Amino acid sequence: MSEFTTACLVSDIAPQSAKRVFIDGTAIAVVRTDEGVFAIQDRCSHADVSLADGEVDGCSIECWLHGSAFDLRNGFPLSLPAVEPVATYAVRVVGEGDDAAVEIDPTPIRARGAGPASFN
Ligand code: FES
Repeated sequence: MSEFTTACLVSDIAPQSAKRVFIDGTAIAVVRTDEGVFAIQDRCSHADVSLADGEVDGCSIECWLHGSAFDLRNGFPLSLPAVEPVATYAVRVVGEGDDAAVEIDPTPIRARGAGPASFN
């Protein structure tokens, strides 16, 4: 059962950048791209650093520490040294303009049975 929670406003996030939010104690990076808003686990799968501090490029975000890029659509790493995916979350944008709200379901998508269980 989905439980969407308001995370922030779209206008709280600069275009092509990310913002760290906490929902139910879970750190989530909310990422605004030209293709929409995405939400991924705000912890690199290679080491314990925030991905929200990384650089957004198209539909990926690059970890600032060692440079692994992660696909925002499915959480999979696109480059080494990370080899494990990060969790992704369902996002919906409610409203329009500066007042549009970003709502996130904090249950990881893979935990709900969608997508691959591991990266091999
Ligand atoms: S900590 Fe992110 S790639 Fe190493």
